[in-house]
This record gives sequence, C-alpha cells and structure tokens, in this order.
Amino acid sequence: TANDAMIEIRPSAHPASAEERAARMTNPGFGRIFTDHMVVVPYVEGKGWGKGVLKAYGPIEMDPAASVLHYGQAIFEGFKAYKQPDGSIASFRPDANSRRFNASAARLAMPELPEEIFIGAAKALISQDKAWVPGAVGESLYMRPLMIATEAALGVRPSNEYLFVLLASPSGAYFPAGVKPVTVWISDDYVRAAPGGTGFAKCAGNYAASLVAQRQAKEEGCDQVVWLDAIQREYIEEMGGMNIFFVYQEKGETVVVTPELTGTLLPGITRDSLLQLAREQGFRAEERKISVAEWKSAIAEGRMTEAFACGTAAVITPVGHVKSRRGNWDINKGETGPVAAKLREALLNLQHGLAPDTHGWMTKI
Ligand code: COI
Repeated sequence: TANDAMIEIRPSAHPASAEERAARMTNPGFGRIFTDHMVVVPYVEGKGWGKGVLKAYGPIEMDPAASVLHYGQAIFEGFKAYKQPDGSIASFRPDANSRRFNASAARLAMPELPEEIFIGAAKALISQDKAWVPGAVGESLYMRPLMIATEAALGVRPSNEYLFVLLASPSGAYFPAGVKPVTVWISDDYVRAAPGGTGFAKCAGNYAASLVAQRQAKEEGCDQVVWLDAIQREYIEEMGGMNIFFVYQEKGETVVVTPELTGTLLPGITRDSLLQLAREQGFRAEERKISVAEWKSAIAEGRMTEAFACGTAAVITPVGHVKSRRGNWDINKGETGPVAAKLREALLNLQHGLAPDTHGWMTKI
C-alpha cells in the first residue's frame, strides 16, 4: 500500500504483554501512558522529507546544540482515534489537524509536512497499536504529532533539519474530576498572545508562556486561567489551552457565542465542530468579541445561562465559577448546563460512531 511505501514498519522486539497492556490501560487519565510504537520522519533542507520509520517507542537522541533546545522551533497537534461499534477504528478530523500543523509550521519558519505523511503515519501507528485503542465512551487513543528543529547550530535562523514524531497515548478524562465544572481566574497580569505573535499556532512556546498564569490561577483557588486580549485587556480569548463558549437566552432563542478568530486565538477543531453541531441542534451560533464587562452584566441580568470550554483533550468542560480582580460570579449555580451537556453528547456520539457521520468527519484506519 501507499502507507508501506512511505513508512517502514519495524515492530518492537519487546511489546507489552496483553496483561501488562490491560493493567496500564485501566484508568488511563490523560497523556501518561504510551503505546508500543512511534513514527519518526526526518527532514533535511534541500532534500525534503525522508522515509518514515515506525519503531519501538523510546527516547530520541539529539545533539545538545539542536536548535529546538535553544530557540524553540517546536509545534504539535492533538487528535483522537476511537473504537467504533463494529470494532473498526476511526479518527476524528485528522485532515483538519494536518492543515493546522502546517499553519503552525509556516509561522515558525518550519517546513510543511504533506498531508499524506501526517495521515499515513497515523494510520500506520494506529494499525500497529490497535490493541491500545480503548473502547469505553469518553476514552480514546490520543494522537500526538510534533515537529522539532534538530540541526546542531547556534545561529539564530531557521534550522535546516527537522524531525516529525508521532506518538499515541490511550486516554480517558483530561481533568481528573471528569466533566465537573471548573473555576476560572481571569488573568489581568499575563497575556497569552498578541497581534502578530504566535497565538494561532500550536507551538510549544505558547504553552510554556502560559504556565506561570496557570500557577497564579491555582494560587487564587481556581482550576484554569482565562486569557484576555493583549491590547485592551478586555476581550475574552481562551481558557487555558482551550477555546471558550458562552450560552445566552435571547427572546426565547438559545444563542451559542464564541470569541471570533483574530489571529491571537487557537483555531480549535472542537470549536469549529461545535459551531456546526450547535446550528444543527437548532441553536443560533455566533463568532464575535465578548468583553469581561459583557460577561459580568449578562450573568447579572440572567441573559447568560452557561459557559464552557472545549478542546480535543477534554471535549467540553463547563465553567461554574469566575474569579477576578473585577469581581467574582457563578454561572448556572456552578452546575453543568443543558446546552453543554447536549453538545458534548452529540460530539461524543459522532466520535464513537453512535451517530451517523453526516459531516464526513471520521477517517477510518
Ligand atoms: C486540547 O486538546 O484541548 C489541548 O489544548 C491539548 C492540550 C493537552 C495541550
């Protein structure tokens, strides 16, 4: 097959036994256990992408001068593969992740990776490690593609060598408490992204720069940080590493609103999917700017009934309480609301093959 031509399969000599695998897959949490294999594909400027290799999961050797370690050319993605009712495996919108990976690569002056390699690597790894795909609703095989700059050179310029790596991690709930509503801290001290920066890219540096704000949120007794825009420090952008949605009741209509993509937000694939699903559920869905002042007043006036965050890892996480230097407020008495619950179920049903794939979002392995 095309896959075999592109990726050489070198099975591990020491795969986990069925017993060991079953033990490790019990209550997997998120991103803590990894399958038997990984895929690596090298890139050299002037030659392009080399042959990929599927091999035993393990450490990657790197020169200490590798430029990723100094100047941070590093991007990643996340998507999931789900066991389907007929026993087959399908992944959710990996083509969208491939496009976003390339948008991230372009922003960091890294080479684009052809979609055939991105998807081919995923198919090869999922097929090889299919015994690691969990079956329960809410569980999946989380796929983590990444690209790093590997050239040993300390000059500040784009690297001439890169490595694409794909790993897979059987995963359950991202947040240990499951879908319990979170308490958020609106960050007035830090910003995640500024116009012209890397906010729309899924690059490692965005996450590194977020951690101190996340720590501050914890110190304030919150679970997650909410980011505001860098210029006016007023418009809501994201929650932690997830997009955010607000639910309004307007003249008997349910309206689902999410911040518009301005270049500083991550264009979430779950975000995009939920906008479509919300409309299909009969809600109005809008992308626009939402200020903290509007958030506060819409809650006080009873016009906003829910808020929730969304992402691949945690799917939908309700926001129950908001704390900030501008005041504290509760949303839906701190409970999960019906719109968040309904959208979450609609999305999970699609992903687990319990509802027909009318959007063509599932890619069979
Ligand atoms: C998400 O899937 O919501 C993410 O942001 C991935 C995260 C684990 C980095």
